[in-house]
Amino acid sequence: MSPRDKTAPRDGRPASGRNSTVLDIGRPPTAANPSAKPAAKPRDVDTPTVLSPRLTPNKNTKSVFIKTYGCQMNVYDSERMADVLAPIGYSAVDSPDHADLVILNTCHIREKAAEKVYSELGRIRKHQKTNNPDMKVAVAGCVAQAEGAEIKRRAPVVDMVLGPQTYHKLPEMIAQVTRATGDVLETDFDTIEKFDALPAGRNAKGYSAFLTVQEGCDKFCTFCVVPYTRGAEVSRPVDQIVAEARSLASQGVREITLIGQNVDAYHADGPDGSAWGLGHLIRHLAKIGGIDRMRFTTSHPRDMDADLIETLATEPKLMPYLHLPIQAGSDRVLDAMNRGHTYEHYKALIARIRAARPDIALSGDFIVGFPGETDEDFEATMTCVREIGYASSFSFKYSVRPGTPGASLPRQVPEDVKSERLKRLQELLYTQQREWNESLIGRTLDVLVEGTAKGDGQLFGRSPYLTGTHFDGPESLIGQIVPVRITSAGVNSLVGERV
Ligand code: 5AD
Ligand code: SF4
Repeated sequence: MSPRDKTAPRDGRPASGRNSTVLDIGRPPTAANPSAKPAAKPRDVDTPTVLSPRLTPNKNTKSVFIKTYGCQMNVYDSERMADVLAPIGYSAVDSPDHADLVILNTCHIREKAAEKVYSELGRIRKHQKTNNPDMKVAVAGCVAQAEGAEIKRRAPVVDMVLGPQTYHKLPEMIAQVTRATGDVLETDFDTIEKFDALPAGRNAKGYSAFLTVQEGCDKFCTFCVVPYTRGAEVSRPVDQIVAEARSLASQGVREITLIGQNVDAYHADGPDGSAWGLGHLIRHLAKIGGIDRMRFTTSHPRDMDADLIETLATEPKLMPYLHLPIQAGSDRVLDAMNRGHTYEHYKALIARIRAARPDIALSGDFIVGFPGETDEDFEATMTCVREIGYASSFSFKYSVRPGTPGASLPRQVPEDVKSERLKRLQELLYTQQREWNESLIGRTLDVLVEGTAKGDGQLFGRSPYLTGTHFDGPESLIGQIVPVRITSAGVNSLVGERV
């Protein structure tokens, strides 16, 4: 699982007809001019996003404000919650001010992310008291799953607590709350039921969409809450995924990112009766007309099989970008993390991937200050970064998560040591990211134009390497794949001109 990328456009898709449920994620803008702040931190992965509508709801509709914290899985789930609520008259709004329902779709991965939810609930309580007494409040996502009824105790403003596998039950839960039959707590763990019960079609927004193909994790890394909040690894049936991809394509989506906490672990029976892995699924989905680009995330070094690597080499619609976290470079730390692989295994895997797809842009996740991490261990992470070379990355200080094995390990690393290590690691990673982006200057890249860029009047899109790219052009190009010659590069994004 990885945090999502926050470099974001304003979606330029026009509102139309029954589009009161066509939604846009109003992600916060980052550097419009990438050369402005070269030393800036590339992404604030803990910044929440808001699901907002194309149209203002009229008096016959009810409004829902959905705020999303955390990874792509939550972004997807927020959209699906909006899909579930649309038939019962809810339209998404981009502010809680007059909302009938507020949903916080939460993340529990690090302490900071979880605590943010409680601060937000404090603000919501004040707002409800002074301006909007009828507003209902729901906490969804991984904090809901992990903390359950404790949330109600800490924040009595909350009416509903719903875990990630229960979103299809939202209408029923809202009915219960509005009939004042008490507070509602739903933290079932049935992923299959969730996907069976969600509407088959999707209300697509924009030209690039996430599609969940797998949920949960059986890996039990000792630092991570995901196996507890999202449950065991479950893959969705092929036909369900194909139907959803077709629905997206029919609404103009051109790029699909297959997502899963351990997406490479995808396995299901194909229509031909044989067992399909992720590579097979990608090749199959790539045949859908209208879908021009595909990506997948997040990968795990233990699950990237030969077929998937071969698919990276041979499937032209698969973009040359791979998020493959290692977390740490020291075998001792990798073992304590229960990662199930060594640095040498990871390095050999990267060599195979690069041999198959030489232009691949590699991204990774790193944790510094895992319990027992010595200076020498940390230097092994620095060596790993120098040897592998990353085009983008996400890096964190280890955050103790109650209930995980890491929380009770001896030799927790002091906060100041973690901060110092993170600073050194990020200097190296951001330098590599800048150098990678600069290496693209002079090249012409196909950019999928997602919308207009906030602030600079330019268009915004993504390169094949997922880099946010800005260039001048008419709004009629939104939704097109446009060749752009790169003229300058910053740590976060590229600037170019149409050729
Ligand atoms: N502390 C810090 N970072 C964590 N991650 C997961 N759990 C923790 C934790 N307890 C990071 C890992 C993972 C990414 C999604 O978040 O790097 O790959
Ligand atoms: Fe968490 Fe490890 Fe599973 Fe990733 S592989 S979701 S880090 S337990």
